[in-house]
Amino acid sequence: MTTRARTLLALPALLTFVAGCAPRATTTRGGEATTAERRTPTFPAQWRFRTGARAEFASQAMIASNSREASEAGVEILRRGGNAVDAAVAVGFALAVSYPVAGNIGGGGFMVIRLADGRAATIDYREVAPLAATRNMYLDANGNPTDKSRVGHLAVGVPGAVMGMSEALAKFGTKSLAEVMAPAIRLAEEGFVIDSAFWRGLRGDSSNIAKFAGASLFLPGGQPLRPGSRLIQKDLAQTLRRIAANGPREFYEGQTADLLVAEMQRGGGLITKQDLAQYKAIWREPLRTTYRGHTVLGMPPVSSGGTTSFAILHMLETRDTLPTFGSAAYAHLFAEVERRAFIDRNTKLCDPAFCTVPVAQLTNKQYARQLASTIDAQKASRTPAIVPAPTGMHTTHYSVVDRQGNAVSTTTTLNLGYGSGVYVAGAGFFLNDEMDDLATAPGRPNAFGLIEGEQNAVQPGKRPLSSMTPTIVLDPRGQVLLVAGAAGGPTIISGTTQVILNVIDHRMTLADAMRAPRLHHQALPDSIAFERNGLAPAVLDSLRAMGHGLQQRASMVNVNAVMRVRGGWEGVSEPRSVGAAVGY
Ligand code: DON
Repeated sequence: MTTRARTLLALPALLTFVAGCAPRATTTRGGEATTAERRTPTFPAQWRFRTGARAEFASQAMIASNSREASEAGVEILRRGGNAVDAAVAVGFALAVSYPVAGNIGGGGFMVIRLADGRAATIDYREVAPLAATRNMYLDANGNPTDKSRVGHLAVGVPGAVMGMSEALAKFGTKSLAEVMAPAIRLAEEGFVIDSAFWRGLRGDSSNIAKFAGASLFLPGGQPLRPGSRLIQKDLAQTLRRIAANGPREFYEGQTADLLVAEMQRGGGLITKQDLAQYKAIWREPLRTTYRGHTVLGMPPVSSGGTTSFAILHMLETRDTLPTFGSAAYAHLFAEVERRAFIDRNTKLCDPAFCTVPVAQLTNKQYARQLASTIDAQKASRTPAIVPAPTGMHTTHYSVVDRQGNAVSTTTTLNLGYGSGVYVAGAGFFLNDEMDDLATAPGRPNAFGLIEGEQNAVQPGKRPLSSMTPTIVLDPRGQVLLVAGAAGGPTIISGTTQVILNVIDHRMTLADAMRAPRLHHQALPDSIAFERNGLAPAVLDSLRAMGHGLQQRASMVNVNAVMRVRGGWEGVSEPRSVGAAVGY
């Protein structure tokens, strides 16, 4: 593991026993949720959040993202009559300015769209491996993985963000690129004041940023920009202006492409003009399933998010009701279900252009029933222990609903914080290190401890398998109920799915669902990851007695979600991180 493996490691916990759920109706500012009465869960006594917090409420529309400036950019477009897709694209470009640790034009992502008229679509704008990529390019002379898939020019996949957002806008938006990009351009030109969280993020990744062209702007005098300073991004503003004026071709064939390729040549990277010119975003049929009467729309491969979260939901649906939230029985069941879903994820999923992905089987409810029937209620199954998985918050998800009831769920990433660290000189943006999501050495763990097989090995033109899980849940009447997704590598799947379970099964308000302690199991390493003080000591004892390994983390998953409530929408940006839900 390299310096890029930014772990949030276990600390000893002193926890108090939790008695479980206390069902009682709560009323939020917007009234009760439309599907059913909400209940107040019981959180462990030492848990960092209390129940009963309020979500942001608005009667018409709502956006939740990791940046207040970006949420406001989207609301500005909505107020000007734009729809949810217009607003989502505005948020995406604004995040590239105000949240450069993950927001980007140098990365890629996935968008799930559900229109009020019932149409649904997804667009895959994941990065692809450059044409000159080779299977063993990240191994040293002894066949061991190096950090070249995480830091520097070789780590960069061909970016998809500009193409994806532009195509989504052209197909389902109502406004021009120039209109929806205006708030982002303004933010880049006029700047914004950075806060301590921004400073901490810069400090955390400064050793990588320092090696490349972004150092002079982000680390003036070698030090991260101080909280309170105004960040003006002139080169980025120019790049955004060119894209707004000339469309996505500017990024893939114009001056921006020239600057990107020049940057690659300076640093020994692989991306050429040909790579950029042939980049394609792909419209894919949304994955669709039902869970306890709700319809769930998810992202198909090359994201594993939809397939894996559906498999988890299907296995849980074989139980008429779930064990009490916070109980050992619940943690055990969730972990065993995740273990099974992740074994399939890690061994069977990859870019469908390069291998046959058995999505139909993996999302089949009968198959889930078979898998779930192998769970012993008293005892953990076994998978051999490997290295612990680090985590970080370097992807970003945003959820948008408009007043017509259109919804957009988007997750975008540079992979690790500030991506590869490489900054395109003269064009003002960071480039991803998405190549590390390919199995750079099949059978060996990646930055997230994921151990994947040959199917996800490096090949030219291949899209790296992703865990991003942008999701839209419809209530039994077919209206949008919940828009959610997350950052956090493979914990994205767990975090997003748990917010869905908290809302549907545990009947929490959105504010509680987002604050509830989270769990994660990805098959390997063979342990339940839990948040510090998030499981009561007696529950930890029970899980140990069942044979579970336990791995404590300071914090897990960065979710941003919007939910329909009576009279409007609630929005909650991740309580463990930065951001804002803004509506009107
Ligand atoms: O696509 C993926 O699964 C990863 N590149 C996501 C990385 C991530 O979430 C990092 N931040 N927390």
